[in-house]
Amino acid sequence: MGRCVITCASIYGSSRQYADELGRRLGLPVLPAGAPECSAAGIVIHFGGLYAGTMLGLKKTACALGHSSLLVAVTVGIADPSVPSNADKIRDDVMKAVPEEVRSRMSVFHLRGALDYSRMTFRHRAMMWMLCRYIKSKDHRTDEDEAVLESYGGSADFIDLSSLESAESFIRSVLEKDE
Ligand SMILES: Cc1cc2nc3c(=O)[nH]c(=O)nc-3n(C[C@H](O)[C@H](O)[C@H](O)COP(=O)(O)O)c2cc1C
Repeated sequence: MGRCVITCASIYGSSRQYADELGRRLGLPVLPAGAPECSAAGIVIHFGGLYAGTMLGLKKTACALGHSSLLVAVTVGIADPSVPSNADKIRDDVMKAVPEEVRSRMSVFHLRGALDYSRMTFRHRAMMWMLCRYIKSKDHRTDEDEAVLESYGGSADFIDLSSLESAESFIRSVLEKDE
């Protein structure tokens, strides 16, 4: 397998922090989502923030892959991925977002990011306000819903670079197999 490429799409910098750290550990630069280098890479690792269930930059990177490239999608969101229902939902959304022929070559990992309303764009604040109104109207709230309500209006930082470990060891094992 040829080169390994890291791509990232981040608005507030959480995914970028994780991508930069993995890049530092593997000695690789971090490229923008969909970078032309993806087409010649054996393995592409994409980091992206979650926005209303959509992983930023994933489609771009998935469409830039070579025919046999493996894709490792590392999502960064506020919901706690150690709660199985959260991880399942994120995984389903991510799988649906890529072309069908890419799904069998894709692995997904989930990390936690940060939210800070004082840095949020007006549009994002409005989206969060609407989302919270909707959540409050629901009869049954998921753990993801509770996490969004708890952080509403304030800030929460769950960035933990040590949580990169499982994605990193998976990537290293794929690279070793190919040596
Ligand atoms: C408008 C908006 C929608 C969001 N939707 C989700 C979501 O669906 N699931 C989730 O886990 N986190 C969600 N988040 C939280 C972001 O994923 C989190 O802030 C993440 O760290 C952003 O990554 P970035 O800083 O790399 O852009 C949302 C945040 C905003 C502002």
